[in-house]
Amino acid sequence: MSRPRLDGKVAIVTGGASGIGEAAARLFAASGATVVIADIQDALGEAVAASIAESGACCTYARCDVTDEAQVEATVAAAVAAHGRLDVMLSNAGVLLPTGPVTDMDLSALDRVMAVNFRGAAACVKHAARAMVAAGVRGAIVCTGSVACVQGGFGPASYTASKHALLGLVRAAAGELGRHGVRVNLVSPGGVATPLSCAVVGVGAEEMEAMTEAHNVLRGKVLRAADVAEAALFLASDQAGFISGHNLVVDGATTAVNPAVLRSIGL
Ligand SMILES: NC(=O)c1ccc[n+]([C@@H]2O[C@H](COP(=O)([O-])OP(=O)(O)OC[C@H]3O[C@@H](n4cnc5c(N)ncnc54)[C@H](O)[C@@H]3O)[C@@H](O)[C@H]2O)c1
Repeated sequence: MSRPRLDGKVAIVTGGASGIGEAAARLFAASGATVVIADIQDALGEAVAASIAESGACCTYARCDVTDEAQVEATVAAAVAAHGRLDVMLSNAGVLLPTGPVTDMDLSALDRVMAVNFRGAAACVKHAARAMVAAGVRGAIVCTGSVACVQGGFGPASYTASKHALLGLVRAAAGELGRHGVRVNLVSPGGVATPLSCAVVGVGAEEMEAMTEAHNVLRGKVLRAADVAEAALFLASDQAGFISGHNLVVDGATTAVNPAVLRSIGL
């Protein structure tokens, strides 16, 4: 099978200034797409876009706080005005805040997590889908979920709840948008050393990777942002042309088995 390509396609990557989003923006551009990085880290986003553009690809930065629907709508409209269409939305911006145990949960921090991870993604799905449907584009919307979409214990309850809600949004949107030929999927990574995960645990990238490796089921490889980007590229590409409503978990079997049972039988 040939590598997935995005030639001639226009993609927005939210949270594209850092981590998984940055890796996806780089890979999408290297795979032929015109890429708009949408983020709130202006200096970083500009620098990433400039470094991608240096390689000859078309990549620009747009400031877009996904918690503000008007900014999401404007970012989609600007991408369509500049490039003629929108084919791919990677709704990837996310936060993980230490909202505490459920018995002591900081509810305003919970609101913030939901505003970015769930409501922000809902705005991205809504406005990307509107643009695609209006132009008759058989587009692909990919949301970055998490293993926390399907299991508790991978972060605070607020994060798990926001990602479970996102799974529901993607399934519902896939159902509604199928008649327009628009596909909606999730790419759901396990632990990756990025500023998000390192900050919440309070460690550097190397230590973070050692920690995730210790409880991974699949051994001999560390999950990196580039691996998640490859899965997102596949879902965004025409090679995934009949895949919609799917949660593509990229976790080396961690959520497929019960690690405690594995350990009890010596595996
Ligand atoms: N790192 C992991 O272990 C891991 C695992 C599973 C899922 N994820 C998910 O991957 C996605 C990307 O996270 P990452 O690990 O690459 O972290 P990261 O911190 O490197 O990147 C997140 C990006 O989102 C941006 N962002 C945050 N709030 C925003 C807002 N309101 N509007 C626009 N942009 C905003 C940040 O500026 C940042 O550039 C998130 O949705 C996260 O939940 C991460």
